[in-house]
Amino acid sequence: MQINGKTYRTIWFENNIVKIIDQTRLPHRFVIKDLKTTKDSINAIKTMEVRGAPLIGATAAYGLVLSIIENNDQSFLKKSSEDLIASRPTAINLKWAVDRMMKKLSGVNNNEILKIAIDEAKAIVEEDVDFCKNIGLNGLKIIEEIAKKKKDTVNILTHCNAGWLATIDWGTATSPIYHAHKKGIKVHVWADETRPRNQGANLTSYELNEEGVPNTIIADNTGGILMQRNQVDMCIVGTDRTLSNGDVCNKIGTYLKALAAKDNNIPFYVALPSSTIDWNIKDHKDIPIEERNSEELSYVEGLDKNNKLQKVLIYPQKSKAMNLAFDVTPAKYVTGLITEKGVCEASEKGLKGLFK
Ligand code: MRU
Repeated sequence: MQINGKTYRTIWFENNIVKIIDQTRLPHRFVIKDLKTTKDSINAIKTMEVRGAPLIGATAAYGLVLSIIENNDQSFLKKSSEDLIASRPTAINLKWAVDRMMKKLSGVNNNEILKIAIDEAKAIVEEDVDFCKNIGLNGLKIIEEIAKKKKDTVNILTHCNAGWLATIDWGTATSPIYHAHKKGIKVHVWADETRPRNQGANLTSYELNEEGVPNTIIADNTGGILMQRNQVDMCIVGTDRTLSNGDVCNKIGTYLKALAAKDNNIPFYVALPSSTIDWNIKDHKDIPIEERNSEELSYVEGLDKNNKLQKVLIYPQKSKAMNLAFDVTPAKYVTGLITEKGVCEASEKGLKGLFK
């Protein structure tokens, strides 16, 4: 997708170095960063220089490539794989990508291992691009249907950033939106700010602006009244882990949007590639929910009058704060899952119908 009229992906491999767009610097600075070691990859995932379920999976896959370049030894590779999986707990794509890489690399002790690793990381990346494109084409049909009935701009609410910046290209939740926009269907996006890290404001609105898609940032609590006023035609969000029963784990606050959507009869869709499905966990209470540093709540960063980035404390110094990063939306509140293979009911039957 485009930034300043130039086409980018979120991650690429060049001269044995992994290149990423440092997302902690967006929207005010555009910085490409080099990852040269596994530690660099782990750090990029932990500090959220890269974030979004599919992108952290791809970064972990390249983290293993870097591990082989650093030290071509099986025990080092195994340790790297464990450290990468532990770098963020909730998004299943991370473990999925590492497991897929390790299946190819475990026990390979020859000079071919680097080539095998690079090829597999590239395959993960290309597959994600392909999946996200198809999610877009499948979701487009839903937007087209609404546009046909409404004969006016389709207003879509999204939460956090499940855009191309969270994947390699296209995004998941944004892919149907980009496809609709490219087809000339009038769409407008309500981008939930998504406290505490503001991925909706800093990343979703930013990338939609760069693609010329009309959008408006709203405070996280605004969605409800917009729904009551018929100013939301549908919601589309991404997910970090979707269980086989259709329960959807995504950025904190997603659940509340789904409740409001249900109360107002507004379709609530979740867009995901199959790499985000967890076929093992049966009860959402067993999903590891990441709890991050409370400073992400109490400090905000922005530009001052002199165009300088400043970080400031906004809470009382003595106050405690809690920062749970994800919540779970039960399947009963999800209208449908938009996947690379088609749209299905958020249920075991629906998912198995497409994938097993
Ligand atoms: O904490 P983040 O920014 O990694 O959270 C991202 C989300 O919750 C996304 O909605 C999810 O990863 C889907 S990305 C296509």
